[in-house]
Amino acid sequence: MAFNLRNRSLLALKDFAPGGIRFLLDLAAELKRSKAVGNEYPQLKGKNIALIFEKPSTRTRCAFEVAVHDQGGHITYLDSVSSQLGHKESLKDTARVLGRFYDGIEYRGFHQSVVAELARFANVPVWNGLTDEAHPTQILADLLTMQEYGEKPLHELSFCYLGDARFNMGCSLLVGGTQMGMDVRIAAPAELQPAAELVAQMRELARSTGARITLETDPLKAVAGADFLYTDVWVSMGEPEEVWKQRIAQLMPYQVTTALMQATGKARTKFMHCLPAFHNLDTEVGRQVHEKYGLSEIEVTDEVFESDASIVFTQAENRMHTIKAVLVATLGR
Ligand code: CP
Ligand code: NVA
Repeated sequence: MAFNLRNRSLLALKDFAPGGIRFLLDLAAELKRSKAVGNEYPQLKGKNIALIFEKPSTRTRCAFEVAVHDQGGHITYLDSVSSQLGHKESLKDTARVLGRFYDGIEYRGFHQSVVAELARFANVPVWNGLTDEAHPTQILADLLTMQEYGEKPLHELSFCYLGDARFNMGCSLLVGGTQMGMDVRIAAPAELQPAAELVAQMRELARSTGARITLETDPLKAVAGADFLYTDVWVSMGEPEEVWKQRIAQLMPYQVTTALMQATGKARTKFMHCLPAFHNLDTEVGRQVHEKYGLSEIEVTDEVFESDASIVFTQAENRMHTIKAVLVATLGR
């Protein structure tokens, strides 16, 4: 079904009805096909888009840049080091300036209230490229990837998120999975489970979407029967380095290992990760953690990450197709 999302912002998945999310996933699949066969029709000609990053990014930035380029638009990249943002100019003023130049603004930063303020004052669509609370464009890519590999409709599939479920990825996966009527499992220690208020809202939403929500502290129970195991870094961008010690102690039982993949009882269970991932000693942070705490792989073992079950690079590719769908749906002509 066609949904009119014209001029809408995407600050959190909750902003869109399940039908709107399904529309974006269908559109992303269509755009992916068009690009593959070389008959993409540019719908962002003459559109100027600002990309603001107050935290680093590889995938989200590149996905937006390539999506806009493919669709015939233009981008400007801004960060808080090389612009006035934050130091000499408030976000409210920046929003009112950029809103006069640009047709849409992507924003990655810390608090959700900031992206909400940007949307309130910019007067053009604003898309959340990750905050502490939400990562909606990532979840669209994840849902498209589960659809592609699941070989069943999303509402017949199950996934288990293991890790710091209080933060952006755990919360947004809970929302997206519930909207799509999926079997959603969260495996985390009690203190790293999503906020009670969000869980209550999702349990209420699940009554209409048919989703099943399970919050578990026992990883073995949580993964039983799951089609996808999903994890994320244990310490997120913006968190102090000092939390590594406690986080490792809390999350070690939730590390995705071959044994945990086998504990699903399903030979076809796939492994997912939003990336970047610490699965070996090829990163600076990975080496620092190794030096201090002796771990050579963190949230996922190298064996699982590099296995045939791992679909992380298709997930990464799908960031671009789904972001393109968001841009075309909200701004295209
Ligand atoms: N998954 C994700 O958002 O990656 P980046 O931080 O590289 O954008
Ligand atoms: N939870 C991670 C997600 C990265 C895509 C972070 O916020 O750093």
